[in-house]
Amino acid sequence: MSSLNTEYLGLGLRSPVIMGSSPLTGTLVNLKKAEDNGAGAVVIRSLFEELIVNEARSQVESASEFLTHSDAENFLEGASRDYFIDKYLKLVQDAKKSLDIPVIASICCNTQGSWIDYAQRFEACGADALELNYYILPSDSSVTGSQVEKTYLNLVKEARKAVKLPLVLKIGYQFSSLSNMIRNFASIGVDGIVLFNHFVRPDIDLDSVQVDTKLLLNRNGDYAETLRWIALMAAETDVDFCASTGIKDSSVVLKMLLAGARCAQLASAVFQNGFEVIGKFNKEIASWMDQHGYDTIDQFRGLLAQERMKHPEQWERAQYIKIESK
Ligand SMILES: Cc1cc2nc3c(=O)[nH]c(=O)nc-3n(C[C@H](O)[C@H](O)[C@H](O)COP(=O)(O)O)c2cc1C
Repeated sequence: MSSLNTEYLGLGLRSPVIMGSSPLTGTLVNLKKAEDNGAGAVVIRSLFEELIVNEARSQVESASEFLTHSDAENFLEGASRDYFIDKYLKLVQDAKKSLDIPVIASICCNTQGSWIDYAQRFEACGADALELNYYILPSDSSVTGSQVEKTYLNLVKEARKAVKLPLVLKIGYQFSSLSNMIRNFASIGVDGIVLFNHFVRPDIDLDSVQVDTKLLLNRNGDYAETLRWIALMAAETDVDFCASTGIKDSSVVLKMLLAGARCAQLASAVFQNGFEVIGKFNKEIASWMDQHGYDTIDQFRGLLAQERMKHPEQWERAQYIKIESK
């Protein structure tokens, strides 16, 4: 019988199928469901830096007529922030107490700001790793690409200094040299990289004629960019790669492992099919391994990573010219 055990960030996982961060991982009941259905690890719903900052400011604004001194404002703002953070840390703590699988905390941040101050508290409450979801929308035309990259690198350096926990970065692919950025992240000491984040993008609602920011679930299983970049980078750096976006069935998990990923995160698949889908994936992965004579994941992980291939150019030069017309 094949074993689904794998290692990610130095943590032992019983399955390479893990729950990605989303509202589905925001309650203890759901985290337990993920474990009961066979997830290898859970990434808890992110603590959003903007939400904490905005909420704390609105508390101060709503009490402004009673706050006659700036010290009182600062106190209230700090207390409101602590309230949110403590609530989040309690969930991490409770998850650590109730679950046997690794529990990964997650922060969504858009500045190098205050979250660094509380990142250390994740360590104290027992999180097994910290995933940092960081995205800059480069919409300011006066900011150059290299300035944007520097901002990313500075944030990651600060985060690396702030926590001793395994540090994971969840990013998108919009860098002019993604491979160079990944190498730089690795040299700063990032332990894992999640490729790729799937961003909330605004749309226009034609009925209300308003901008609408509904998050669309991934229905079409668009995993191709993730697969290519994991294959390109997995054997080139020491970083552990976790696949995300479009992991809609077990065959995609197997492809990611063959490309060199250590695990794959699910979000949309569980929204659409329930937590039971995790167990289904596990069974199908084990059955494929049996059919192909693999006892362990390490026997085939990275077999099709670019550096190991006889024709490595296949990952780079996939072009229309090669697709014959019918
Ligand atoms: C409703 C929803 C909420 C999400 N919330 C978060 C979040 O809080 N933090 C985060 O890092 N990613 C979040 N994500 C992104 C997912 O973790 C995942 O990276 C993305 O959806 C791509 O994977 P998928 O194709 O399996 O959905 C969210 C995704 C969805 C669909």
